[in-house]
Amino acid sequence: MTTVAWDVAMLRSEFPILESSSRGKPLVYLDSGATTQKPRAVIDAITRFYESGNANIHRGVYQLSEQATIAWDATRHSVAQFLGGVPDEEIVFTRGTTEGVNIVAQCFVRPTLRAGDRVLVTTMEHHANIVPWQMVGATTVPIPITPAGELDLAAAEALLATRPKLLAVVHVSNALGTINPIAELCRMARAQGVPVLVDGAQAVSHFPVDVRALGCDFYCFSSHKLFGPTGFGVLWAKAEHLEKMPPAQGGGDMIDRVTFEGTTFAPSPQKFEAGTPHIAGAIGLGAAIEWLESQDREAIHAHEVSLLEAGTAALQAIPGLTLVGTAADKVGILTFTMDGIHPHDIASLLDGEGVCIRAGHHCTQPLHNALGLAATARASLAPYNTLADVETLVSALHSARRIFG
Ligand code: ALA
Repeated sequence: MTTVAWDVAMLRSEFPILESSSRGKPLVYLDSGATTQKPRAVIDAITRFYESGNANIHRGVYQLSEQATIAWDATRHSVAQFLGGVPDEEIVFTRGTTEGVNIVAQCFVRPTLRAGDRVLVTTMEHHANIVPWQMVGATTVPIPITPAGELDLAAAEALLATRPKLLAVVHVSNALGTINPIAELCRMARAQGVPVLVDGAQAVSHFPVDVRALGCDFYCFSSHKLFGPTGFGVLWAKAEHLEKMPPAQGGGDMIDRVTFEGTTFAPSPQKFEAGTPHIAGAIGLGAAIEWLESQDREAIHAHEVSLLEAGTAALQAIPGLTLVGTAADKVGILTFTMDGIHPHDIASLLDGEGVCIRAGHHCTQPLHNALGLAATARASLAPYNTLADVETLVSALHSARRIFG
């Protein structure tokens, strides 16, 4: 058997958008933390569905509808395997990470919430893992972080000992790149009987996730940060929780029996999937997972680490540039500030060079407040990025410094 070595050029050729240009320059896409680009396999699967497979699921006895239902169920199975081999029934399809967190807030936390109940979060949390808890009436209490952007685990343990209602923690920080020690946090939380929700939005594209090995109760992610389409995502929850949780929304497809006197509900996960769902979204996510699993994930990881190391060294050598988020364990996210240049101006100057990065608070205002920063600039990497992309970023930042310096 011949083995083909993993090669970034080959991988890039599967992403049509990477051939395009921006502002007249070759596109250098460094905003995969916001959304990843899509491989041809995903684009084709969605097109094929609309060209020759489109029908509603769970409703028709005709072949087209049966096939759409089979494809929908097949993605549920792929996702269940992707998360470490959990039962298919524990996979709830959502519109994305945000909806997953909101379902847990509305249906798990709210029904038993008492005045003064707290949800333990972290200082580095995305707004999507803060606001839903506050909206149901919980007080959010943050676990502090160190200057490098790592969780203070001693503080986490002490705060867990106060028995909050839930620990809601991000697996990988979208703003700092930090990979949090989820298994360790779950062990600490279990010792206090505190359930754990993990926001996996930025994690699943970077490394394999086994939710049972982590020991959490809930895990959410979005398709569009995993090379799939927008508007679709996953909430995994232990069956014991899903069984007790009331449905989030009422409508078609989530019922057992409806009369004018009252309604009984379908079992999970259907109970949480009211209305016609994003069927093409599921098909796209299924294709994205299949595509990702066909890759040499170790080689991809090594590639990302080499880009991160090269980018970190080159950025640190730029006078007046400060990296924000230097955890020992982090993914390919390079967040920074530059003396005398607002992050939005950095992003605009880079845009002129065809380089896409994100600037602002990255939906982490409390983190930026804690760091004493109004905004930062962020370049986020994916396996399709190259050393040349990083070099273009670095040389554009040197030009920015010359212009503003
Ligand atoms: N949460 C996404 C990001 O970090 C949108 O850019």
